[in-house]
Amino acid sequence: MKFKIDMKDKKNCFISTPIYYPNSKLHMGHAFTTILADILARYKRQNGYNVLFSTGSDEHGQKIEETAQEKNITPKIYVDKIIKSFKELWIVLGISYDVFVRTSDDVHKNYVKKIVKKLEEEGHVYKGKYEGYYCKSCESFFTKSQLKNLKCSVCGSNVFIIKEDSYFLKVSSFQDWIKNQLENKNILFPKSKVNELLIFISNGLNDLSITRKKVKWGIEFPLSPELTIYVWLDALLNYLSLFSNNNIDFSIDEIWKNPDSEIFQFIGKEITRFHSIYFPIILEMLGYKSNKVYSHGWLLEDGKKMSKSIGNIKNPFDYVLKYSRDVIRFYFYSQVSFFEDGRISDDLIIKMTNGILVNKYSNLISRVYAMLFKYNSGTIPERDKSKKNHDDMNVIETFEKYGSEFNKCMDDVGFKNSSNVFEKILNLANKYIDETKPWSIKDTKRRDIILLNCMYLIFKLNVLISPILIDSSIKVFDSLGVKKDSELKIDNLSGIRVKKIDNLFNRI
Ligand code: MSP
Repeated sequence: MKFKIDMKDKKNCFISTPIYYPNSKLHMGHAFTTILADILARYKRQNGYNVLFSTGSDEHGQKIEETAQEKNITPKIYVDKIIKSFKELWIVLGISYDVFVRTSDDVHKNYVKKIVKKLEEEGHVYKGKYEGYYCKSCESFFTKSQLKNLKCSVCGSNVFIIKEDSYFLKVSSFQDWIKNQLENKNILFPKSKVNELLIFISNGLNDLSITRKKVKWGIEFPLSPELTIYVWLDALLNYLSLFSNNNIDFSIDEIWKNPDSEIFQFIGKEITRFHSIYFPIILEMLGYKSNKVYSHGWLLEDGKKMSKSIGNIKNPFDYVLKYSRDVIRFYFYSQVSFFEDGRISDDLIIKMTNGILVNKYSNLISRVYAMLFKYNSGTIPERDKSKKNHDDMNVIETFEKYGSEFNKCMDDVGFKNSSNVFEKILNLANKYIDETKPWSIKDTKRRDIILLNCMYLIFKLNVLISPILIDSSIKVFDSLGVKKDSELKIDNLSGIRVKKIDNLFNRI
């Protein structure tokens, strides 16, 4: 039990990624969401929250069924193999998830069946006939007017007509309620996405078909066992079924009924409708509070969404091997605006690595360490206690101000903004050394103060950046012999004999 100690004093925080389709291996686009969710989870843990961070795999549905058929294996054998590669990728990228939901697991399936029965008992489900269009790639239903040139308006794939008996979820009764939530309750960011959904609702919110007749690879529909549950209802319920997992330190109510809990659901923009219309309605039907969704942009390649079907994917394993996971994590954090579409390329990675990680971050640490060894045999000096005021307090104060600014940006899910503040801190520290020129100072007491201040800045800026640069920050903490979450005051650093470290990043 990780969190129980001061459970009462701490705020609970739920952070989720979408659960990914295992119809193919994960690509950089998936790594993007998951890395940023991980950065937020680590940041929140560091700031005293009880964090529950979930990810997983969305294993049912027609697309997976057909992919397995093409390979001549059962869907279960197929997904088991590919989920292994998902988990390997998350280890390689340092994703610190607390729970991995697999929708083909019995705990999830039983939970979904239980909820469907409950929704039916409470009058939210009825039997009817579905007639409309279906996109297999998005596993989504569309009316004719929602198509674009008779193709899926989301992914551009061909759609096919479905006419079948179906059960429906009566979401239409919640049309005014969801409109009010979207308009007034801050359940979706950025605001531009709210407008898109309001337009979608303004044409009338149709009830959601929640069963499929011919799809066998799915959860049996409890009211009619020859049907399976629509894969999106199955998938959305992962955010609730995960609490049935034995290793979870939270009860469902501690997140979904607790008015003080914070919720961050990271998703890509094309699945906003499911997360910010249907899921809040399902939560409301079940008596839970609304979610909060952060709908991010896509990673593009040649101007198009990176995706397996377009064939323009980049493999995250290759990039980590080539550049290291810290570089890739820092890239998504600092170079892509979360709510906009972005890109990744060797040129951009190299420019960022040399410009920031080498020139500003790694060099700062190398310079200070070199001086510390040259002038003080690697021991962090003491300050001159005879002086009433600590020298160069303005630098420390400016740093503290930037630290609060950094945290404010992170609290607002402004990753790129916080990276700008991080760069300001690096500039501040580098400028301090350039201006004070410790190498030209004869007065050893004065030089000691500058070195002490520099080491304090290095320690503190590594605390700030540790949710992002998970390996390099640890190297700095190890060399100081301190823990990453330690609350060291400047005077406690004095006397520490630091261990030498190699360049944290090398010029490419
Ligand atoms: N299984 C559903 C999600 C169910 S959540 C209850 C699904 N899976 S997916 O594998 O197709 O996509 C998962 C996430 O990856 C989505 O948020 C999607 O936007 C994101 N991305 C897929 N390609 C992407 C990019 N090229 N760029 C950024 N994110 C991308 O949808």
